[in-house]
Parts: sequence; C-alpha cells; structure tokens
Amino acid sequence: MKKTVIFGSGQIGSMLRRLAGTDYRVTCFADNHPKRQGQLLHGLPILSPEDAVKTNPDCFFIGVRDTERTLQMEQQLHALGFTGEILRPDLMEVFNPRSGILRLLAEQIIESCVPGDTAEVGVYRGDFATLINEAFPTRPLHLFDTFTGFSAKDVLVEQQYSLSHARAGDFSSTDPEIVTLKMPYPENIVLHKGYFPDTFLPCENTTFAFVSLDVDLYVPTKAALELFWPYMSRGGCLMVHDYNSMQYTGAKKAVREFCEKTNIFPVPICDLHGSVVLMKQ
Ligand SMILES: C[S@@+](CC[C@H](N)C(=O)[O-])C[C@H]1O[C@@H](n2cnc3c(N)ncnc32)[C@H](O)[C@@H]1O
Repeated sequence: MKKTVIFGSGQIGSMLRRLAGTDYRVTCFADNHPKRQGQLLHGLPILSPEDAVKTNPDCFFIGVRDTERTLQMEQQLHALGFTGEILRPDLMEVFNPRSGILRLLAEQIIESCVPGDTAEVGVYRGDFATLINEAFPTRPLHLFDTFTGFSAKDVLVEQQYSLSHARAGDFSSTDPEIVTLKMPYPENIVLHKGYFPDTFLPCENTTFAFVSLDVDLYVPTKAALELFWPYMSRGGCLMVHDYNSMQYTGAKKAVREFCEKTNIFPVPICDLHGSVVLMKQ
C-alpha cells in the first residue's frame, strides 16, 4: 500500500480522498495556503508542502484541475526533493463517475421499461446533455436554460444566504442552436429557453424517467425539485449536480430541504462536484 499525500485541500482534493483506491493510504493533505495548514480535513492533518514531503510519502495526488497550477505544484514538489510518484486527477476526465452513473441508470430505466421523457435544467454548452441524449436514444430530451447565464434575482438570494460567489451572467457564453447541433439525436431535443421555473409550464402533463438538475444555484434547484418530482415515473431518477460542491452550496441546501419535506434519502455520488441521485419509489 502506498503512503499518499493529497496536495490541495479544496473541492478536488477532498473528493480524491473519497475516491482513493485500496492501494493508496492517504495520510495527510498538503496546502500552500497558510490558513489551511494546521486544520483537519476528513480527520487528516493539512500540512505545508515542506512538512508533507518530510513525512516520506510514496505518492502525491495533485488535488487541482488546471494545468498551470498542476505544473507549478509538480515543480514545487521536485524542488522540495520529492522523487516519488505524482498522480494528476486527469483520470477523472477519462473515467468519470457522473457519466458512468448516468449510463447505468439509463440502462436500468430502459431495461425496466420505466416510462417517460428525459430533461436537463442547466445545460450551458450541452456537455452532459449530450450524454443524456446518447444514453436515451429514443426519448425526448427537454433542455431548460436561460442560455444567457445566471439571473440577477437568483444571484441576489445566493448573496443573501452566503451560498456562493455567483455573478449574474456567469455561463452566458453559449448558444441553444449550437447545443442542439452537438447532440447525437437532435430530433429528440425540445428547447425551453428562458428563466426556470417560468419555462416549465408546457411540461405540466409530461412524465419523466430521468432528469438532471445542474443550475448551481439554490432558487432554481429548489423550484426544479418541487416541479419535476410529481411528474417522475416510479423507478425514474433525478440527478442533482453540485450537492457536495464547496463553490456552490445552494444545491445541497435545496436538496436537503426537499428531502426532509418528502422523506426521501438522497444517494451521494463521488464525482468531483458531488452529485446525488433521488429515485422515485
Ligand atoms: C454549470 S452550468 C450547466 C453545465 C451543464 N449541465 C454541463 O454539464 O456542461 C449552469 C447553467 O444553469 C443555468 N441556469 C442557472 N439558473 C437558471 C435559471 N433560473 N433558469 C434557467 N437556467 C439557469 C445557467 O444559465 C447555466 O447555463
């Protein structure tokens, strides 16, 4: 078993701790941020990189995603005299738990003949929507988004409750026509452009088998949970992204409140931003 340090104690580092396989025994985190050093994360100490190298680990996991920072951190470890194995979280892009769970749920829904359409609220450039469309080749896929980014009124609530640093207009660099053209089965796409929940009305008599919520923010997540749930088929699944996100904490607040009210237990998933699945009984 390899004695391992996770370099980076943010969102990515935290998820890597949960994902570490049996060959890697994580003993501590390392972080350049002096305020983090000395704290505990998942019960493990956060050390300075210098002190972490002194613990003689076999391996470092780099707990950030952008290439520039990754290179800097690798160089820092080499400069500190570390000559062991350094693993980047790139494999998470190749083998992604969120995509895998979507495909498994789709197989189960199709094999069990769970009736209903599919939907995503929060589409942006359609990366996850493309996978939903591919996994359900014969079912309509309803795509809900402003396609102009976050709305000012939702952002105001984020600020009031200190849920995130979201700004009005974030994620505005997209285009619904381009998103539709990316889809493997564009004939199945039904676009609902505009502010959610105002755009839900045409779906009020639609049954759903799979819904992805990925709006990042509290207000539209809460609205979507309440609106879609009554229209989910038995055996249908609602997947909410960002449940364990440190950047956007409103998704968890909305899911927790909804689950408490409806007596549902969410199943957490170990993708980098921490999705959850709610299955209709
Ligand atoms: C993180 S992005 C979605 C990413 C996408 N699911 C993917 O996997 O690539 C969040 C999206 O939610 C949308 N959004 C946030 N609040 C919304 C609201 N109230 N109504 C409609 N769309 C909203 C934003 O416009 C943005 O495109």
